[in-house]
Amino acid sequence: MKIALVGNGAIAKLVSEFCATSAGRLTVVAALGLPSDVRSVGKHPIVQSLAELLAFNPDLVVECAGHSAVVAYATPVLEAGLDLVIVSTGSLADAALWQTVRTAASRSKGRVKLPAGALPGIDALSAARLAGLTTVTLRSSKPPKAWKGTPAEKTHDLDAITEPTVIFSGNARAAALTFPKNANVAATAALAGLGFEATTIMLVADPGITQNVHHLEAAGAFGSMTLRISANPSPDNPKTSHMAALSIMRLLENEASAIVI
Ligand SMILES: NC(=O)c1ccc[n+]([C@@H]2O[C@H](COP(=O)([O-])OP(=O)(O)OC[C@H]3O[C@@H](n4cnc5c(N)ncnc54)[C@H](O)[C@@H]3O)[C@@H](O)[C@H]2O)c1
Repeated sequence: MKIALVGNGAIAKLVSEFCATSAGRLTVVAALGLPSDVRSVGKHPIVQSLAELLAFNPDLVVECAGHSAVVAYATPVLEAGLDLVIVSTGSLADAALWQTVRTAASRSKGRVKLPAGALPGIDALSAARLAGLTTVTLRSSKPPKAWKGTPAEKTHDLDAITEPTVIFSGNARAAALTFPKNANVAATAALAGLGFEATTIMLVADPGITQNVHHLEAAGAFGSMTLRISANPSPDNPKTSHMAALSIMRLLENEASAIVI
């Protein structure tokens, strides 16, 4: 299977290393980057336009770049009839963009595939939805310094926080739009479960942790579940959980495999 990447960073590197170990089942043919991406993170060539990327005739395109890449490339990739994996799911909190992407996918033979990313239990949440969910709450905790450069700086003295402090509480759409750099897990929970309006998100600055900790609780006709992940960062990007790349690898493995799990 020929894979084209959009992005040339931490996730792209791990995914391309994984594909290189797949004994030819998964081949990264090229990656699309920004003009600053002059050196590829893998053995594949790096290009600067979608036309150049699609000229490699990929079977599937993996976005691992950021929200602006979803805005720029999701629709044309789908219009080209290709499957598209979107890891920057937070971009889909923009209702107009999500509608555009859904419309493009419904008219295309290509499909949008959303990996679990950094969040655990997306398979269970998505299955539970089929019987009816009543509540979904995600509590995402990070060390106080990880919230620097976000709107939390305006509402809290992050250097003075000595105990776990809720810096945002609201629905998934507000969380994703207010904290776009931390939006992906909120959006993935919403898309798999109860939607952006009905999913409750709490963002927490916790001086007692060094990892990012996501705590997902859901209830419904299926019963209830509690899932917690303490996520290690990617080797090349402390802001990205290693799980994000691993979840794409799992998706690609399933695409190329006789057994899907
Ligand atoms: N779903 C999740 O749980 C989850 C978790 C972590 C990260 N992510 C998403 O994955 C993205 C990539 O993560 P990363 O750690 O590899 O980031 P990174 O910063 O290491 O790499 C991003 C790469 O994409 C390129 N890029 C950015 N905008 C682009 C555009 N418009 N067109 C083409 N290339 C572009 C950059 O130049 C860089 O090469 C993040 O921006 C984030 O949105 C999702």
